[in-house]
Amino acid sequence: MVSRVIPVDPFDLVVIGGTGDLARRKILPALYRRFCAGQVPDDAQIIGAARTAMDDAGYRDFVGAALDEFAGAAGCEDRARFLSIIGYVTLDVLGDAGWTELAGRLGQDRVQAFYFSVGPSLFGPIAERLQTYGMAGPDTRIVVEKPFGRDLTSARALNTDLARHFDEGQIYRIDHYLGKETVQNLMAIRFGNMLFEPLWNSQYVDHIQITVAETVGVEGRGEYYERAGAMRDMVQNHLMQLLCLIAMEPPSKFDPDAVRDEKLKVIRALDPIAPEDVVRGQYLADGDRPGFREHVGNAESTTESFIALKVRISNWRWAGTPIYLRTGKRLRARTSEIDVVFKDTPHSIFGPEAGRHRNILTIRLQPNEGIDLGVTIKEPGPGGMRLVDVPLDMTFAQALGPDAKDVPDAYERLIMDVVRGNQTLFMRGDEVEAAWAWTDPVIAGWEEAGTAPIPYDTGSAGPEESLALMHRDGRRWREIRA
Ligand code: BG6
Repeated sequence: MVSRVIPVDPFDLVVIGGTGDLARRKILPALYRRFCAGQVPDDAQIIGAARTAMDDAGYRDFVGAALDEFAGAAGCEDRARFLSIIGYVTLDVLGDAGWTELAGRLGQDRVQAFYFSVGPSLFGPIAERLQTYGMAGPDTRIVVEKPFGRDLTSARALNTDLARHFDEGQIYRIDHYLGKETVQNLMAIRFGNMLFEPLWNSQYVDHIQITVAETVGVEGRGEYYERAGAMRDMVQNHLMQLLCLIAMEPPSKFDPDAVRDEKLKVIRALDPIAPEDVVRGQYLADGDRPGFREHVGNAESTTESFIALKVRISNWRWAGTPIYLRTGKRLRARTSEIDVVFKDTPHSIFGPEAGRHRNILTIRLQPNEGIDLGVTIKEPGPGGMRLVDVPLDMTFAQALGPDAKDVPDAYERLIMDVVRGNQTLFMRGDEVEAAWAWTDPVIAGWEEAGTAPIPYDTGSAGPEESLALMHRDGRRWREIRA
């Protein structure tokens, strides 16, 4: 199987906050890899812009160092050629210095994208200056990152600020989970196969589990994380997006608004969450490794580093089929997966001694992306009919051969989609607001009740109470394993 690389048209991409962590770790390496793959034309321009005074040569050194550190094994022989399309403008995002120079650097008649790789408080001022300095034309696109607000009010304010200067069709709100290969595969699996869709409803599906487990803690991000917690950092965006893709109705076509309309309907159909359906946790210190409270510098922190929720969707397709979400830091393994657990057969012809067997479709997002369908077969050998569950395992790396390793990472795909003008994998303003409208009362619920997160051990599956959340429904979480 040969993957095709279709070069994009020449473009200017300005990375505002070009010396920041996200630029170093993700944006610049992603552009480099796409350049090496032949997708970025030689006459494209990538311009870093930030407060630090620097010239083009200084920034090229900075970019070179970032590639050494973060571009991994990927690369091409002509790194110099990539660096030659890089420039830099010293910019005061809250003042006037640098904006005229930036405008003068941009090419004519080509896509211009501005990546706001800065905190959300700067989104409004930057959008305003782009307009003032004549850089908000009809072909301009702006890219903003999470956190897109910390509640509905602040998200609305950000949307309003951006809408003063740009149309919705020019605003690309990134949720990097949507750029992951297997996340898009969710749509391919659901809507490209006849096999699954007829069974994809509460008549056949007992429940769905979505787990995003990490082994890292919040080292170095304590200040942000103490204010966010797992609900705002992961559930409101990444897990919500997974939930939407797994639960939405088939869009009429694979087109940005058709897909996003269906996702929005799912969010709007979510029931409010009852307090007993939420379990929050906080990781403890582990030997020399500090615990959550040390990481965030607050001995009385009530922010969660783990959360498990039971979610219900009130619509014809899903009424009666709960969706359990869980995410946390410092857990047993780094793994993200979705498990669709089908119902028991209506009647077992093999009798009670055959035990209970269920089909489970596991969609592994990372690592070892792939799908795995648990089917029940006869245990081989003589001596009666004993049943056993075996996986029909399809790891994409095996199935697709060498091409699987060339799969672009989320940022590569998303940045190229910005240049191509495809918003399918970006969140629309109303979608983000709907997600906050559902999230806010959940957070208010535990804040009003004054409940504290439950401590859990590093390397565990989170607090025991999260197991109980499932047990009381006669269900159990799938094991967290790499
Ligand atoms: C980020 C969160 O959006 O996603 C982090 O802010 C989290 O806390 C990260 O670690 C997880 O992303 P990935 O791609 O490593 O699963």
